Amino acid sequence: MARIVCTFTLPDEAVDLLRPLGPIAGPEGWRESLADAEALLCLMTERVDADLLAAAPRLRIVANAVVGYEHVDLAACRARGVTVTNTPGVLTDATADVAFALILGTLRGVSSAERSVREGGFDGWRFDGYLGADLAGRTLGIYGMGRIGQAVARRAAPFGMRVIYHSRTRLDAAAEAALGARWVEFDELLSSSDVLSLHAPLTPQTRHVIDADAMLRMRRGAFLINTARGPLVDEAALVDALRDGHLAGAGLDVYEREPAVHPGLLDLPNVMLLPHIGSATVETRGRMAMLAARNVHAVLSGQPPLTPVG
Ligand code: DGY
Repeated sequence: MARIVCTFTLPDEAVDLLRPLGPIAGPEGWRESLADAEALLCLMTERVDADLLAAAPRLRIVANAVVGYEHVDLAACRARGVTVTNTPGVLTDATADVAFALILGTLRGVSSAERSVREGGFDGWRFDGYLGADLAGRTLGIYGMGRIGQAVARRAAPFGMRVIYHSRTRLDAAAEAALGARWVEFDELLSSSDVLSLHAPLTPQTRHVIDADAMLRMRRGAFLINTARGPLVDEAALVDALRDGHLAGAGLDVYEREPAVHPGLLDLPNVMLLPHIGSATVETRGRMAMLAARNVHAVLSGQPPLTPVG
């Protein structure tokens, strides 16, 4: 008889908060405990759909312990009166740090240089060896200027980059001035960015927003960075654009068919590939789990959720 079901290992602090509310089940065999569950804490690796909801007739809250919620059927939750929450704000800096690590790493060829050392390829300093590209003086284009996009923009100025952005909602003039960022149409973002970094959620409108046609409209020699969601990019088209040299490189933390990575990407030297680690710091994961737990605590105590979605 679990009142709360959790699909991942909760930190002690979150267990301490929730245990007084009732028994907690999971992560082992969490699906078998859904029948009595009033709260489900889950991740983006779980599909919360009509079938799952049917197996959990007493469910009151789905506390999604990540920020993206494309794996949750919001309409089905709404229809059953189930509150859905996510974890905005607590992973902004960690994710922006990884985006910037990819920008630096991709422009300077850090992955392939490091691989070369490990493979015994470093046989002495050469004037023309391991040449990358300067960040300073280049234009960083940000697609999606929410919290994470803004945090990436803040990191770009000290590196001497110009920042342009395209977002559904334009920032006010004061925020643009503080970030040193200029709003542009999507076409101009594509054609004027030396480095294009994606920070939009996955929606039907943003799926494959960077497809073969968009890549063609990007500057020859530009770099593409994606720490948002893999399906924003048509991966097969990206492989083609990198192979034929239209794009100079790509830095990816997310993939179209995660955890599968397009085999063409694995063969290319000018890509830096990370295993979806945007929010993967001890402190950030702790904050994500605690925010999810606080949302459960609020709803099961009859309070409004802290960070509802939908
Ligand atoms: C999220 O929160 O949506 C990430 O992709 C995992 O940090």
